[in-house]
Amino acid sequence: MAVLIQQLYGTRSFCAEWALLASDRNNKDQIVRAGFTMSHDLAALPGRCAVADASLIMAKRKLSAEVRQKLERAASKVMKNAHAPYSNFYVGAAVLLTNGKIFCGCNVENASYGMTNCAERTAVFSAVAELGPKIKIQAVAVTNDHGVACSPCGACRQVIYEFGPDATIFFQGANGPKQAHITELLPEGFRLK
Ligand code: THU
Repeated sequence: MAVLIQQLYGTRSFCAEWALLASDRNNKDQIVRAGFTMSHDLAALPGRCAVADASLIMAKRKLSAEVRQKLERAASKVMKNAHAPYSNFYVGAAVLLTNGKIFCGCNVENASYGMTNCAERTAVFSAVAELGPKIKIQAVAVTNDHGVACSPCGACRQVIYEFGPDATIFFQGANGPKQAHITELLPEGFRLK
């Protein structure tokens, strides 16, 4: 229960070291195998799953099945890097920014359970670490290795909302694939400005 409450209402800030830990491990290789085109400047930088694909930059937020598939593939790839020895539940997330770049993350658990970081937050924090706080999230896809229903937890919804108040979330629902606007998942998200 304590963990659940912490996940739902926790306001911990995210250390730079966490993003590094969680987005490391052969990302360049993953991206190439996932079939994305990497921009050279991004490819040269370690520790993130970032791609720049012009076809993903859309003036209006109409997200095709193809975009969803790309994001899910990227999420499934990075999912394999999860550190989940306690739950054995591997999760991957891919965040599409409005500039067309994609950042990925996996869950990173800890022996002190409450320190666990979800895949979604790992991906968002990696994007911020790479590009700074002006990023705008267009979409997020979440996958898990059990193929079970898994929507972002409360803490992740709030973090996504911070950078993507108009974001679309792709996830596995109880009856198959679902998509929802972030405000459907998080009505009246918190904002300071
Ligand atoms: N988890 C995520 O990474 N994302 C979600 O959307 C749900 C849960 C992780 C946290 C923990 O490592 C494991 O899944 C079990 O809760």
